[in-house]
Amino acid sequence: MCVCVCVCVFRLAWTLSASPVRQHPLPPHPAGSSLQQAPSPTWPAQTMPPNLTGYYRFVSQKNMEDYLQALNIGVALRKIALLLKPDKEIDHQGNHMIVKTLSMFRNYILEFEVGVEFEEDLRIVDGRKCQTIVTWEEEQLVCVQKGEVPNRGWRHWLEGEKLYLVSWVRAGKGAST
Ligand SMILES: *[C@@H]1O[C@H](CO)[C@@H](O)[C@H](O)[C@H]1NC(C)=O
Repeated sequence: MCVCVCVCVFRLAWTLSASPVRQHPLPPHPAGSSLQQAPSPTWPAQTMPPNLTGYYRFVSQKNMEDYLQALNIGVALRKIALLLKPDKEIDHQGNHMIVKTLSMFRNYILEFEVGVEFEEDLRIVDGRKCQTIVTWEEEQLVCVQKGEVPNRGWRHWLEGEKLYLVSWVRAGKGAST
């Protein structure tokens, strides 16, 4: 159970897969998801972010139930979500990124320009919309999701061939049992 003032965090890990063979069918590319061009930020040479392009197979997850509870996701959907072992596919072209979370139940496709705020439609996840911005913090990709739920976001990074994700949300008023 997630205590009211805690920050619920969940962790996932994937491993880079040699063959980018899709296990899960993809829905057609959502219409109207084109994003505006952002001017390229200039990086100091020593903090050049890594290239996250790859197909990553699910390895493990921790604390997902608390996280979903903090988002008020009902028990039936939580039970399904806990059984999923989603893969990740990332296409990283300059500042443009497409991050796909692929599972047999649902696919979630996030497309954005690093450093440009956009409206993220999370209705497929928890029924909400957020103003989202993703930026590099050194070698980690950090996301802030401003919206109804305070302190929501995630962080992705690579360690060798492993891709990690931590997601968090502040559980507060309205967070269910
Ligand atoms: C990352 O690697 C992919 C595949 O090799 C390449 O197409 C892409 O342009 C690279 N992206 C960046 C940001 O260097």
